[in-house]
This record gives sequence, structure tokens and C-alpha cells, in this order.
Amino acid sequence: MSDGIQIQTQSLSKNFGSVVALKNLDLAVRKGSIFGYLGPNGAGKTTTVRILSGLLKPTSGNATVCGYDVHTERNAIKRVTGLLPESPGLYSKLSAVEFLEFIGALNNLSGESLHKRIDSLLGILGLEGRQNDLLESYSSGMKQKVLVASTVLHEPELVFLDEPTSRLDPAASVLVREIILAMAKETDTTFFICTHMTDFAEDVCEVIGILNQGILTTLGSPNEIMEQTGTTELEDAYLKIVGGEIDRDTLLSWRQ
Ligand SMILES: Nc1ncnc2c1ncn2[C@@H]1O[C@H](COP(=O)(O)OP(=O)(O)OP(=O)(O)O)[C@@H](O)[C@H]1O
Ligand SMILES: [Mg+2]
Repeated sequence: MSDGIQIQTQSLSKNFGSVVALKNLDLAVRKGSIFGYLGPNGAGKTTTVRILSGLLKPTSGNATVCGYDVHTERNAIKRVTGLLPESPGLYSKLSAVEFLEFIGALNNLSGESLHKRIDSLLGILGLEGRQNDLLESYSSGMKQKVLVASTVLHEPELVFLDEPTSRLDPAASVLVREIILAMAKETDTTFFICTHMTDFAEDVCEVIGILNQGILTTLGSPNEIMEQTGTTELEDAYLKIVGGEIDRDTLLSWRQ
């Protein structure tokens, strides 16, 4: 692994039958940085995350994650990374505390230090008082908060978050943003975040990659991308890059 680079990919590609989900991705993500991955529905973001977190084999190309090979060392990658999946499963017959104890045990954490960590994360996320209720009784945003807590609980050196703020209310999104920023600063954790929230990405991410139809079309800091596109907000830059503007007549053309 080159010094300070935690994710390095070369011509990484994934096909599902005739669908090209990811095409020749060349990307380097620096240790301790916060990388934002943007792109329209179906662009290939989740596919990339699934390959880089050791869940899915690429069709071709190479990548190393924390120094481990995505072809041959997928178990090691799973061990040293954390993943908040796009559609996570959750043990609904466990309470939040029991679920986090279980995740802690899977990562060789136990005892007082684990409980302190669980208490503090649940406190920060505003779930104290509900921590012993079964997860099946939680709202979808409350479940999402528990899942965010479970992803960072063992302080992995690299965390993949696939749309961490979907389902969260604005205040909870801000909290998750603060947790990410604090962890990146205090613990040198690297974050790889898929998001549709351009405001969130502009605030949090040092480097942004925009993927469109499996191809990485743009890479740079939010400021660089805004400068290149002559915009002052990342949302406008994004819309210029991926398109998405449609004229008013076309919008209601299905009625004719
Ligand atoms: N298991 C699968 N089998 C077949 N096709 C798949 C599979 N997973 C993803 N694809 C296809 O790969 C392409 C990329 O999907 P992916 O889920 O990576 O997109 P995404 O950028 O995460 O989109 P979204 O923003 O909607 O989450 C899509 O065309 C999708 O249909
Ligand atoms: Mg996705």
C-alpha cells in the first residue's frame, strides 16, 4: 500500500450480465480523509461499496483496501472496515443495547469499555430511555441511528456509509455529520460515504467523486468542482454535471 493511501483501485469494473454497473474505476482515497461518492440512482455507488468492503467480487480490475486485496483477502477487509449498508438487516427481537453488545462481541469488544461506548453513542444519538426497547418497536430513523452506532462501535480504520442520512430527521443528520467529523479528526478514521445529499457532502467531504452510469466523471474537492462548473453550490454543480434539468412541457407530457 502506498503511504497514506487506504483505498486504491485500478480499472475496477463490475458487470451484472449485460449491465455495466462499474467501469474502469481508478481511485485513491487517503487515510483519514472523508470521501463523498455522488451519482444518480443506478450509477454504481452501492456496487463500488460492496466490492470495496469485501462483499462482492469485481468482474475485472484490481483494488486494495487497507492494504488487502479485494480478490483474495475479503475476510481481512471485512475485519478492518465498518459498513452501513444501503438496506441493512437488523435483529428486531433484540433491544438496541443487546444488538450493540452482539456487534461488539463480533468485534471482540466486551465488558465495561464496550458498555461505556454503547451508552455514550446511544446518548449522543438521543436514544437513552429507549435503549432496552426491542428494535421492532423503533421508528425507521431510530433504527438507522442504532445502525450508525453499530458501524462505528469498534472504531474501524475505514468506514463505508451507504446513504447514512436517509430516513434521518435534520437534527439527526447534523449529529451524524458531527460524529463523522469528530471521528475523522480525533481517530484518523477514513470515511467513504455514498450520499444524495449535496449539502451534506459539501459540508463534510474533503474529496468528492461523481459517478454516472458506472463511470467516474468528476473528482475533486467541493470547491474545485464548484469552480470548474462556475457554480456556488455543490447541488448546482452536480446538476450541471449529471444533467437532470427538464423543461416544463415535458414534465406533464404523459397527460396528453
Ligand atoms: N445484484 C445485482 N444484480 C443485477 N444487477 C444489479 C445488482 N446490483 C446492482 N445491479 C445493477 O447495477 C447498477 C448499479 O446499481 P447500484 O445499486 O450500484 O447503484 P447506486 O448508484 O447505488 O444507486 P442508488 O442511488 O439508487 O442507490 C444498476 O443498473 C443495478 O440495476
Ligand atoms: Mg445505492
